[in-house]
Amino acid sequence: MSGFELNGLQLGVSTASVQIEGGDRNNNWYDWAQQSGRIADGSVPQNTGDHWNRWREDTELLASTGVQHYRMSLEWSRIEPSQGVLDESAVLRYRNELSALLAHGIRPLVTLHHFSHPSWFENMGAFEHPDGVLIFLRYVRLVVTELGDLVSDWITINEPNVYVTGGYFAGLFPPGKQSLAHVVKIFNRLATAHILAYELIHELQPHAVVGVAQHLRPFQPALYWSPWHHGLSWFVEYMFQDAITEAMCTGRFKLPMRRPRAIRPGRYYDVIGINYYSRSTVVHLDNATAANVPVTDIGWEIYPQGLVDVARWAHARYDAPIWITENGVCDNTDRYRSRFIHEHLQAVVASGLPIERYYHWCFVDNWEWDSGETPRFGLVHLDHETHDRTMKQSGRFYAEIIANGGVTEELYRRYVAGQVYPRNDR
Ligand code: BGC
Repeated sequence: MSGFELNGLQLGVSTASVQIEGGDRNNNWYDWAQQSGRIADGSVPQNTGDHWNRWREDTELLASTGVQHYRMSLEWSRIEPSQGVLDESAVLRYRNELSALLAHGIRPLVTLHHFSHPSWFENMGAFEHPDGVLIFLRYVRLVVTELGDLVSDWITINEPNVYVTGGYFAGLFPPGKQSLAHVVKIFNRLATAHILAYELIHELQPHAVVGVAQHLRPFQPALYWSPWHHGLSWFVEYMFQDAITEAMCTGRFKLPMRRPRAIRPGRYYDVIGINYYSRSTVVHLDNATAANVPVTDIGWEIYPQGLVDVARWAHARYDAPIWITENGVCDNTDRYRSRFIHEHLQAVVASGLPIERYYHWCFVDNWEWDSGETPRFGLVHLDHETHDRTMKQSGRFYAEIIANGGVTEELYRRYVAGQVYPRNDR
């Protein structure tokens, strides 16, 4: 059977400020991109899709797909350009966008920290600074006070594990450090920041729904018969996602993390947020891909069952409704994105898990951090010169799934049947 019904699963799309807005020169990623060799294709975030000015057009286009949900982040450096200074025009700009979404019946889910923050915060050490958490909490208070009448679904921190491994282990994200001591320290600080933000948001807005967007992936040993690979897989999984997820959700800090005195064990989530892209095959302390498997244009394994595996793991531990806060694919020419969407949604629906929402990453092609603007994840094509937007075939498919409440056999034949994934066969 190729068709399926959504059975109440609600669809949306997911984005992040620096990746789509353009223009801003006051954040850590702008500074990072000015350093030569940091961004694979040499592109800079201030040239991305200009959503800061074209948000009306984008919101109209979004509404035309029929999505019910939109996940976006706010650019802290726009709202608080210098420490303690509020830019009211930036707040108003976000208020206008949020109001337009609501007017179209699209529910916003707002991320408070998605990899980017102001240069002044970065320059003082960000979460390395002893007051980093406190400064973040002041910003959270400001945002919830200013926008809480328009938003009540919040993600405190996006992918703490990717932020930490990118910035403090691999050195590919700002601040470009490679130090295990920093990894543990920043994990502690982010878990603390999330827990205190969770409490603060609920104090300001008792009905809020708050969670973290955790990047989760299955890990498999490269060689099934190798005890070394098994041990390594366990270790990488524990360090990358197990300990940090546990600390953020429950306030229990497993070694090598350490619970700060201000934190008590508890339940610090209303929803389980999962970002899912791929599976890792473990050979060393890094992220490898198995041979002879379907892969995306940037070599990530396409493995829909993994989405269900990580959701089942998280649900067994934390027992709460699940939102897939990101899932998407780098398919530069939109040759197989519809198949990817079909297979992942079908797996979600068949899982029997309480998955309420699915946010596809992303809407308009964006700026992919250290990889620059070359990888295309969007349902909508962006012309980098003219900034023209064109709905892709996969975007039309997504809209038709929403309109039909699922994938009919006819939709499957029209959009999916002819699509084939690339493979990395050797
Ligand atoms: C991040 C996004 C990113 C996506 C695809 C996730 O790790 O949250 O910001 O664009 O992966 O690379």
